[in-house]
Amino acid sequence: MMDMVSNVRPESLERIKNKEQADAFVAKQIEITKAQVKDGKVLLALSGGVDSSVVAALLVKAIGKQLICVHVNNGLMRKGESEQVVEVFRNQLDANLVYVDATDRFFNLLAGVADPEKKRKIIGNEFIEIFAEEANKVDGIGYLAQGTIYPDIVESVGVKSHHNVGGLPEDLQFELVEPIKFLYKDEVRVVGKALGLPEEMVMRQPFPGPGLGVRCVGAITRDRLEAVRESDAILREEFANYGLDTKVWQYFTVVPDFRSTGVTDGKRTYDWPVVLRAVNSVDATCATIEEIPYELLHKITDRILKEVKNVNRVLYDLSPKPGGTIEWE
Ligand code: XMP
Repeated sequence: MMDMVSNVRPESLERIKNKEQADAFVAKQIEITKAQVKDGKVLLALSGGVDSSVVAALLVKAIGKQLICVHVNNGLMRKGESEQVVEVFRNQLDANLVYVDATDRFFNLLAGVADPEKKRKIIGNEFIEIFAEEANKVDGIGYLAQGTIYPDIVESVGVKSHHNVGGLPEDLQFELVEPIKFLYKDEVRVVGKALGLPEEMVMRQPFPGPGLGVRCVGAITRDRLEAVRESDAILREEFANYGLDTKVWQYFTVVPDFRSTGVTDGKRTYDWPVVLRAVNSVDATCATIEEIPYELLHKITDRILKEVKNVNRVLYDLSPKPGGTIEWE
């Protein structure tokens, strides 16, 4: 049996590149998970990101309703993301899914908070608080599943650990179930596809834990966040139409906390700009700018100005990293 206790990837684990290897990996992990948890209950925080989604799909196969997924909608998700989690896991896979709409709680705590690190702390801590509350409502949890992947273990000062806020409180210190902890990201995607997860979920670009919260620069307001969400949806749609969605490493929009004058239908406006950002990178430590064709920039600009409320300018951020970080805060 594969050594799941050690934190070193077993030499016997071949790089997973195709469906056949992925199916074999899944079968093995089902066996290991069943042996580990027996008839115990397993809790999983399901954000809808690639890693937690793949763990959820794998564990549903292994232990069905013994898995309890908790999806916390913090109000900072991309357009349609929470809905997709419910659709895929509750409706299609028949998973045990607790859906918590905590938008108001997050917004109330974040009101007036402009400092980026304070925002991150609030978002991270409130998530843990809500997750713990939900865990306490379920009797007899024995295990906590996590979407840890191999780079998380290897790069102890990597992107995730650098940004992660705090640890789990004592009442959530269960034995861990980490079925993909020896996989690299590309392998996680192959396994996700083999498990039948939607392409869109499996091929997803990196998305920060604090979500759109760090792209609504300064103190978050509902209407400015809505401008981030709607413009991001337009950018993603147009990138997909143009075939750039699978080519560009990370792309999104940012709405800074300042306004400028504009004019629409002969009327003067005083509204926010939307900043477009599209970068290529290998591991997020450095990034270069994607040279978006002008025709696409024009199309995205026209759509944002027409369809997104309270916006009167669209700008393109040409700063590489170093220079600017990838996110704006
Ligand atoms: P920066 O902005 O530091 O981002 O160049 C590097 C990568 O990390 C992502 N990022 C985060 N990920 N929590 C996360 O889980 C965070 O607070 C966070 N901030 C940035 C960013 O999207 C990029 O991929």
